[in-house]
This record gives sequence, structure tokens and C-alpha cells, in this order.
Amino acid sequence: MQNAEKVQICVRALKNKFPPSFSPLAGLVLGTGLGDLAGAFEERVSVPYAELPGFPLSGIVSHAGCFAAGYFAGVPVLAQQGRCHLYEGRTPEEVCMGVRVMAGLGIKALIVTNAAGVLNPQFNAGGLMLVTDHINLTGRSPLTGPARDGGIFTDMGKAYDAAFVRLAGEAALRLALRLEKGVYVGVAGPQFETRAETRFYRLIGGDAIGMSSVLEVITARHLGLRVLSLSCLTNKNLPDCMEEVDIEDIVRVAGQCGASLERLLRALLPELAAECGRT
Ligand code: HPA
Repeated sequence: MQNAEKVQICVRALKNKFPPSFSPLAGLVLGTGLGDLAGAFEERVSVPYAELPGFPLSGIVSHAGCFAAGYFAGVPVLAQQGRCHLYEGRTPEEVCMGVRVMAGLGIKALIVTNAAGVLNPQFNAGGLMLVTDHINLTGRSPLTGPARDGGIFTDMGKAYDAAFVRLAGEAALRLALRLEKGVYVGVAGPQFETRAETRFYRLIGGDAIGMSSVLEVITARHLGLRVLSLSCLTNKNLPDCMEEVDIEDIVRVAGQCGASLERLLRALLPELAAECGRT
């Protein structure tokens, strides 16, 4: 079956589970250790991916594996609690199916979160980074294939919405929350980087590195969604003082960043809604 048909089946299945008046403004992709944020949604309805025919499941235990719908800071939102990854052997289409489903449900903005290693020596593990641009080094694209949806040649020059970046920076300032800004390097993983690779990723302009997000952002821009992305900086990934990376530590530190992420998004979402013309 074509991906578009599978997406439509999931869109219809989810619509049947949500109240008819529910019209989500934003979709959140909640990455490693960050899924709990959906617990703060009001009037929450959760639908496990397993109930959606053809929807790819994540095998990662720190990912809950469901869609959540509800109101966050009064704004109607959807969330993907967990995602699947290229490193699980998933295809770019599978990795991006959630974004297509949320776009089918009417979101205008996509908020992508992830856990990332720190490449910029001035940034600290445990902090948050607002992604201002990315470098896709996964070697894959979700748009490969026959031209569809009005063409596959998507402009990525302004991938991360400038107004969203400004509003996020202002919200962080109001909250006295340290928010770094930088370039996210997306790799396929699952192995972590060698020292030489880390040196290279820093040299080409990376501030943080992770194994997700870039394909979802490409899909979102292809579908005309406005994008904001936030990285939880979980570990130092510096060539000359490289610490051994442990996935359990990454999940734990991402979970600790979750509280700051929630504060920031709570302050920011009403402003993003106003920016999108919905108050
Ligand atoms: N490298 C790649 N992906 C990651 C890292 C890292 O250091 N930390 C969290 N995700």
C-alpha cells in the first residue's frame, strides 16, 4: 500500500478517537526521555500507535509509542510520544509518517524535540538548544521517490521559522532560562561518533548532534508546516575530552531537561498560536 493511503487510514482512525471539535494547532514530536510532557495536556486522549493500522512502532523502551491529543497552555495540540528511527532499520517514510499524520489532522506548526550530544565547547550538558539550522548527514531523504504533493524539490533555506526562533528566545529570556542557539547535525547512528568524526562535525559548523529530527523537519517543510526544534543537550561530545557515552545516562539527562522544556513550551505555545493567527 502507498504511504499516502496508510497515512489517510491513520488520520481517519485518530479523528474517530478525538472529539469532533478538536482542531490541533501544533504537533509535538517528543523524543528520548521527553515523552512525559504530554502528561501535562488537559483533556488528554491517548491512542497507542499499535491501534493504528500500518503505523510504525518504536522498539526503544524510553519511547511510550502513542499519539496524545489535548490542550497545553490552552492551545490545542497533538503529540507523538516517541518516534521510530533509521537506526532501527526503519525507512525515511516510516520515520516521517507521524508528521504526515499530524499534518493530515490539520496542524500548522511542528515542534520537534530530541536528545543531542554537545559539539560546541561553550554549551553544557543538561541545557537546552534552540535549533536554528541543520545539516542532514543521514544520507537519506524522506522526499526521495516519484514527485508528489506538488513536487519534491523542497526549499530548506528557511527551514526553522525565524518568528518562532525569535519568540522562543524572548520567552526564554522572560523565564531566565538559558537557551543556546545552534546547528543540529543529524546522523543515522546507532553507533556514537569517533573522535575524528566529532572533530569533523564541529569543523563543518555543528553545535549539537543526534540521530533524529532532520528527516521530520524536511517532511514538515515539504508539507508547508512552520517548524520549531529544541534539543536537550545530554552529553559532551568533544574530540579532546570525550567521555564514554552511555544511552541510559542520555535518557536520564534528557528526562532532567524535560522540566525546562515544559516551562519554555508552556510560555511559548500561546505565542506560537497567535503568530499562526490562532489565539
Ligand atoms: N551523538 C549522537 N546522537 C546523540 C548523542 C551523541 O553524542 N547524544 C544524544 N544523541
